[in-house]
Amino acid sequence: MAVQTLLDECLSIRGGRLFIEECDADELARRFGTPFTVMSEDQLRRNARRYRREFEARWPAGPVVVLASIKANFALATRWILSQEGLGCDTFGAGELHAALEGGVAPDRISVNGAIKDQPLIEAAVRAGARITLDSTAELALVREAARRLGHRATIRFRIRPDFSTLTEPTDWYEEPTPIAEATRLYKAGIPTEDVIELGRRALQMPEIDLAGVHAHIGRHTNRTEQWPPIIAAYGGLLAGLRDAWNGWTPRELNLGGGYPVPRDPFGRGLARLQGRPRTAPDVSEYAGVVTASLMSTLQQHGFSLRGLRLEIEPGRGVYGDAGVHLATVRNLKAVDSPAPHRWVETDTSDMFLPDVVWEHNRWTAIVANKADRPSSIVADIVGLTCQPDRIVPLASLPEVQPGDSIAFLDTGAYQDGLACNFNALPRPGMVLVTGDRAEWIKRPETVADIFRRDVVPLRLTARQ
Ligand SMILES: Cc1ncc(COP(=O)(O)O)c(C=O)c1O
Repeated sequence: MAVQTLLDECLSIRGGRLFIEECDADELARRFGTPFTVMSEDQLRRNARRYRREFEARWPAGPVVVLASIKANFALATRWILSQEGLGCDTFGAGELHAALEGGVAPDRISVNGAIKDQPLIEAAVRAGARITLDSTAELALVREAARRLGHRATIRFRIRPDFSTLTEPTDWYEEPTPIAEATRLYKAGIPTEDVIELGRRALQMPEIDLAGVHAHIGRHTNRTEQWPPIIAAYGGLLAGLRDAWNGWTPRELNLGGGYPVPRDPFGRGLARLQGRPRTAPDVSEYAGVVTASLMSTLQQHGFSLRGLRLEIEPGRGVYGDAGVHLATVRNLKAVDSPAPHRWVETDTSDMFLPDVVWEHNRWTAIVANKADRPSSIVADIVGLTCQPDRIVPLASLPEVQPGDSIAFLDTGAYQDGLACNFNALPRPGMVLVTGDRAEWIKRPETVADIFRRDVVPLRLTARQ
């Protein structure tokens, strides 16, 4: 039997070839035609169960609801898998609410988040019976109007802006060391505290409105668990202030947002400053331990009762990231010797389809799927199709590669498909779902005709003079 090395729960190397669950990645590449993203149904389910298990075990006070952030991957099939696992989701905008409802999410497990909501979105959310997380003062009137019109009582929460000024550690978002406090201060999300105090007073007088709780999402700034106690202390402090301002109101539900890293954590690894960072992030159990313990102690310290309190978390990358592998094929090799030696491995994909190499300075782990046990012998930029430098993985250590080899970019299951664009009029890749040894399309690849489907050319431009 061929030697097998496990890379994680989903990926292994067998006889020198990369396997995704029971599927040979290079064979998938040939069968479906690169580039495309493979999502592992089995890994998605394992991740969903892990988040539920680790948080539920540590939050005996009330229900834990895992709202997997649908922006991280809004393919309907992936959403159905998470719905079967009992997960809800957070949504931004009409498209994501549509995906949630079409993807089998129970409406009471949908949090309609997001800045700048308009009246049709709010009406759709109230009609569906989703929770609405208000992000500005203007939204309260819109929810009230919709609730009156539809004859439903609307459940709302306020997205708040705790004072994170104690978070002096640098965020992983920028090369220049920038405190997390400063990055969050400049981020628009959430209702300013002076406004939220007044807004809550008004909402509590409205029979059409049920103010159930509050929401805050700070995001992934570092993968260290040490950032969580100060985040939660800031959250608890503001909550106590709101209770005092609102005649003793107490929340029935608290939503702490997402920000849990992918285990191999590609985020920021392209930044020079973060080269020394440990390669893997702490386990979900560690985050669950720190988050729930700090929340319990902060709330108790401020005199809140925990009984029945619904805890919501919104992991995005943590649920989808390592369930996705992007597959591409090597098309050409190029090398120059002067003025300095440099090599390029040219592929049939692009950083336009893996854009967090730019947005989040990710460094993807790249494996030559049909030569997965060969030692590295060259250093080359793995580059993409577009006219941009398109350095998908700069200075990658690789075995000797040939045109026709398959390259797998790991941890690409979150955000990459949603962020992909049509630059150079490139059709965006499709998505294949794998479970065990079975593989099938769940999103067909775009065609050139799809790209031009929205174009309208006025007749006068093409009519002969
Ligand atoms: C409100 C909200 N919740 C959850 C998430 C998911 O974040 P992550 O993928 O870092 O867990 C995001 C991401 O931007 C978000 O804006």
